[in-house]
Amino acid sequence: MKTKESLVKELNLLTDKYSVQHFILKNHESKTAVEICDELKINLKKLVANRLALGGVVAENGFIQLDKVKAKKVIKNHLDTISKLQKKIKNSASVEQEKKIVKEKNTYTNHDGVYKQQARDKMVNAISQVDSPMGVIPTLPSYTGKLEMQILESVGRGFEFIGCERDFDTFHKLVNTIAENTKLRKFLKPRFCEIGEVIFNAKTDEFAHLILDYCGTINSFHKEIEYAIQNDLVKPNGTISITLSKNGIGNNAGIVGELLRQFPKGCFGDDKETEMGVKLFINKVMKPNYKVETFFNYYDSSPMMLIIIRRIS
Ligand SMILES: C[S@@+](CC[C@H](N)C(=O)[O-])C[C@H]1O[C@@H](n2cnc3c(N)ncnc32)[C@H](O)[C@@H]1O
Repeated sequence: MKTKESLVKELNLLTDKYSVQHFILKNHESKTAVEICDELKINLKKLVANRLALGGVVAENGFIQLDKVKAKKVIKNHLDTISKLQKKIKNSASVEQEKKIVKEKNTYTNHDGVYKQQARDKMVNAISQVDSPMGVIPTLPSYTGKLEMQILESVGRGFEFIGCERDFDTFHKLVNTIAENTKLRKFLKPRFCEIGEVIFNAKTDEFAHLILDYCGTINSFHKEIEYAIQNDLVKPNGTISITLSKNGIGNNAGIVGELLRQFPKGCFGDDKETEMGVKLFINKVMKPNYKVETFFNYYDSSPMMLIIIRRIS
């Protein structure tokens, strides 16, 4: 989004003149020319030199003898000029914004994927169980807020989402989506941050559920998942939903590699290694008061896994 200053420059306007005109236009009925000059710290000569001042202020206060009809015409002309100017600025701003959106490379684009919707349905279904708690849900809405809308529509009120997003352009679009949607505006508070910051700063029972729809690799997020479970951040009966990519985990890399190295090479079959690594990780961080409710393999541009864990007591 362009600033007023950059637009004024691009449209060859003088910032000073632009603000003076606006000020005069806004105040010409309530202030005298002298008051306007005082506030703008300009002399009357300059005010007279200003075309808008001729019609709007000076004529009104008798400094220049225009008859009323003429004065009104001048004021109308100036008003027309200003509104044309404003339209030009508005159009130029939205064209710029559209150009930017087309150019933008988003971190996530497969919002309409069929299997993605199946994964969403499972997360919503888990949250809508009768004894599932209400309250705060940290989540990763991307810029659409689709999953959060689905929860609000099928489960109803009683939730407040902390919508975390770490990519600036996506965050910017999310803010626009929220601004245009009354429900999201009320129940989804956007936050430009890593969701890990919210997790590591939380206390026991602080959240109703956690929706960690990362679609990323577990090696980047395993510490916050472990922290959430170890510290019982979701209330009893609350769920932790995690989506992970099966790509990008080499056998020797990170936490998954570490866990897989305890087993003979190839014992799970190549295509199952990542899945087994993730299961081993979940098994390692689980406590007796948790259960794995869902393990769903799906395809969302690339192979993914959805894991839903519930705190049972
Ligand atoms: C897979 S998308 C979310 C999809 C969305 N929940 C839906 O139902 O369509 C993940 C989004 O979260 C962001 N993201 C991924 N990891 C994150 C993290 N650790 N903290 C904050 N944002 C993150 C990505 O930039 C992306 O916009």
